[in-house]
Amino acid sequence: MAKLIVANWKSNPNTLREAVKLAKASDFKNAIIAPPYPYLESVGRILKRAALGAQDAFYKGGPFTGEVSPDQLKNLKVKYVILGHSERRRYLDETDELINQKVKTALRAGLKVILCIGEDKAIHRQGPAAIKRFLSNQLKKDLHKVQGTRYRVQNLLIVYEPIWAISTEKGSKPDTPAQAAKIIAYLKWLLAKSYELRAIKVLYGGSVTSRNAKSFLARSEIDGALVGGASLKPGEIKKIKGL
Ligand code: PGA
Repeated sequence: MAKLIVANWKSNPNTLREAVKLAKASDFKNAIIAPPYPYLESVGRILKRAALGAQDAFYKGGPFTGEVSPDQLKNLKVKYVILGHSERRRYLDETDELINQKVKTALRAGLKVILCIGEDKAIHRQGPAAIKRFLSNQLKKDLHKVQGTRYRVQNLLIVYEPIWAISTEKGSKPDTPAQAAKIIAYLKWLLAKSYELRAIKVLYGGSVTSRNAKSFLARSEIDGALVGGASLKPGEIKKIKGL
């Protein structure tokens, strides 16, 4: 099964020119490129092999100043949307309840949802049982009433992204591939057992670069990687994909 690479550009780069250059250097099969909103249309026109993703979506259109709706994204030919990223949870106070609304409406609009979950350093220090408890709770809230026929749950992907492993966190380092694979195996078990979701892809995110990507992607449990910082370097996605 082909592994997916999600390039999360976050609030980068500063100019459309740079965005265009980066998109051209990142256009590979089974890659998903998620630029900031202002570049979506231009990047979408460039991509021939990679799919277009957005970094967030609100749960409605209409009188919501500054927000972008799932339908607007869909009409811009966006295929994927990242929801629940820890930076939005932290800096924009996004709650699990809000994320749950967003997951439901994005799925209903026909977008593929890349839901990010992950524990912080304090929970990580408490060990595997605490990590699993935290993740199971997060999923329970984020996926509240998502199963069932109203939503296209087959369009859901999960990223296990431990917050302490994100490259911009102080003192961060990537998780070990073995540890990440164990948690991802647990998440898959949980998704099947509690949500009857059996074929959901679960990716790893957190300080993935061309140097360590191979060791994560070699694990059968890990269906791909979400890449932040490294995805801003032209040529890095190509190397990460092993091309
Ligand atoms: P990173 O970011 O690859 O720079 O650690 C990943 C993410 O937060 O999306």
